[in-house]
Amino acid sequence: MDAKKKGNFTGSIGFVLAAAGSAVGVGNIWRFPYLAAQDGGGLFLVIYLVLVLTFGFTLLATDIAMGRRTKKSAFHAFASIRPKWGFLGKLTFLVPAIIMTYYSVIGGWITKYVLVYVTGEGKAAAQDGYFTSFITSKVSPIVFMLLFLAVTSFVVYCGVEDGVEKFSKLVMPGLIVLIVGIAVFSLTLHHTDESGVTRTGLQGLGVYLIPDLTGLTFSRFSKILLDAMSQLFFSLSVSMGIMITYGSYVKKDVNLSRSIGQIELFDTGVAFLAGMMVIPAVYVFAGTEGMASGPSLIFVSLPKVFDAMGSVGTVIGIVFFVMVAFAALTSCVSVMETLVANCMELFSASRKKVSLVIGAISAVAAVIICMGYNVLYFELPLPNGQTAQLLDLMDYISNSFLLPFICLLTCIFVGWVIKPQWIIDEMESSGHKFGRKKLYAFMIRYVAPVIMAIVFLQSAGFFQIFS
Ligand code: PHE
Repeated sequence: MDAKKKGNFTGSIGFVLAAAGSAVGVGNIWRFPYLAAQDGGGLFLVIYLVLVLTFGFTLLATDIAMGRRTKKSAFHAFASIRPKWGFLGKLTFLVPAIIMTYYSVIGGWITKYVLVYVTGEGKAAAQDGYFTSFITSKVSPIVFMLLFLAVTSFVVYCGVEDGVEKFSKLVMPGLIVLIVGIAVFSLTLHHTDESGVTRTGLQGLGVYLIPDLTGLTFSRFSKILLDAMSQLFFSLSVSMGIMITYGSYVKKDVNLSRSIGQIELFDTGVAFLAGMMVIPAVYVFAGTEGMASGPSLIFVSLPKVFDAMGSVGTVIGIVFFVMVAFAALTSCVSVMETLVANCMELFSASRKKVSLVIGAISAVAAVIICMGYNVLYFELPLPNGQTAQLLDLMDYISNSFLLPFICLLTCIFVGWVIKPQWIIDEMESSGHKFGRKKLYAFMIRYVAPVIMAIVFLQSAGFFQIFS
């Protein structure tokens, strides 16, 4: 199937916003602030920034250039370059397939919280046990998941230009306005707790920005580095075929090097602003101990913070959850778009048909994931020391296990089999300069594979450097 039939982004802005839409997701909002608070504030920020500009940029350039040069999605892209490496395309396809099973479930939870705040139920959501009782209930999480999935499927069904691109152009600027608004509001907060201690938003900003070097040992530094690394490639949506698919929709005259810089800036900027929004607010009302990672940050800790704000908390709650819903939607769209694009190529079928089938399969899979909190509940110890339910298990397989492994193989493939010049040629094919090309070649051949091997061995539980 030729690229025309599949669709194209109209220009570089559409592409950058769609790619940023994929990259900016719940990871930016519920994981980045937590990691920054836990890993020494400014120290984490500096390390993260350096990694984005070196490592993140290398992986983004690899995926996007591979997509544009082959004009194919992951499943066929690798095989079309080297038939022997076709297995890597299939492996890459697995990641969005697994993520799709649970991302819409999380999207459903977010949708539910939008409704909670719109109907003025914020007080109830701040009670202990509210979130758990919601996700363990049998019907409600499924209904909200289906709602979220229906919107996602509709956007994908409408196509690249009229669906994904239009939607991203609408949502992404709105998201920036909302997040800047709440971040500024966060800085103006202050609160005196029962023991008479007053904390202000600006003090909270200090906790976020000032590097905390106390007890900085080699092992702590390495742990921060590893945290930043695994956050980075999840956050940029690289090595999961998504950016290969999006790259395949980019026209030949687009300056990829500049677009990649803009995507990095967008994703990192939103993560940074999310920290500015979350850390001062949590610090003012709950101290640094109030920070939690993952779902419990936004579904448990923040509702308590909004409640403590009084009546303005309801408005902030609405704005916040609408913003998170936007971020999650554009990410979920990118996952589904990748699945649809791959299947359109595989079965030479039309977008509309494939979107409906993938939408239906995703719905069934997501219902099973929802049941993981009631009928199918289990507690499974993972190799990395955590305890998982069904959703966590899917997350672990895709993000902690498959992702670093695929990334490692991709680096070997590009760095040593087809050679970095293959990517560099594509980056420069529009006639623009690829500024960081020496850095690129060095990273993809030497640095990235070694680091990915360490990340993989660590998260697969082969060794535990930090306990
Ligand atoms: N990049 C998204 C985030 O930061 C997460 C994501 C993962 C999105 C996989 C799509 C696919 O939250």
